[in-house]
Amino acid sequence: MTREEVLEKVRYYKTLGYKVPQEKYIKTPEQIEGIREAGRVNTLVLDYVAERIRAGISTQEIDDWVTEVTAANNGICAPYKYEGYPKHVCVSINDVVCHGIPSKKRILKEGDIVNIDCTTIVNGYYGDASRMFVIGQTDPENERLIRVAKQCLELGLEAVKPWGFLGDVGYVIEQHASRNGFKVVRDFGGHGCGIEFHEDPFVFHYGKRGTGCLIVPGMTFTIEPMINMKKSGVRISALDGWTAYTKDGLPSAQWEYTIAVFDDHTEILSR
Ligand code: MF3
Ligand code: CO
Ligand code: CO
Repeated sequence: MTREEVLEKVRYYKTLGYKVPQEKYIKTPEQIEGIREAGRVNTLVLDYVAERIRAGISTQEIDDWVTEVTAANNGICAPYKYEGYPKHVCVSINDVVCHGIPSKKRILKEGDIVNIDCTTIVNGYYGDASRMFVIGQTDPENERLIRVAKQCLELGLEAVKPWGFLGDVGYVIEQHASRNGFKVVRDFGGHGCGIEFHEDPFVFHYGKRGTGCLIVPGMTFTIEPMINMKKSGVRISALDGWTAYTKDGLPSAQWEYTIAVFDDHTEILSR
């Protein structure tokens, strides 16, 4: 299907009352190529961190690595100064759900579970992804949380079908989390991503099948479920206005991909 045919079909769905993506967020092949390159660099930055993360380093050191490797690959760290965010990457440890701010004072220690969330701009295009890391050995329940969170992302990805619905994605994620006794965070979600950092549509990690935004070839968006051990509630630090903690102080895990939807397949642009 050409992009014009896709747009025509989307307009028709809209007349039927479906929620559909804005045309400016249905990307051209040229735009997807640009987002693919940004995603490639973003993945390479996360690979660099993966090789080096260990007990005894400060989270500021991770910020320094990300800053250097991104620049060496003609990239820009999207988080820096984004809505006032002070650092280049988010480092979220244990009961931090997301948006943890790197600091010289926070030293990684045995048993920590850490999410590293990188977003890279290359030639004006964005790639966004995050991964979990275990520092040394951790509690088996933490291991299970990390594994189930990853499965939630993979199941969400499998539920992405052109002319399906984002509610199909949220549904499988929530089902899998709750089957395993865990809770999906509701205060944050995935997002369109590629020509801006956070585009519409919002990608819920819970929902009902056959509801929500229509999924259309040419869309690029993230899926990034945050899964809490016991309760879904989060609170934002009053000190820095960013760090999101679980309300109950129990751990949280998250994985994120940026993906592109095509007629006949879905591609992971950054992981
Ligand atoms: N990378 C995060 C996301 O997945 C957003 C971080 S915003 C920042 O959407 F300002 F904290 F970097
Ligand atoms: Co991210
Ligand atoms: Co994101």
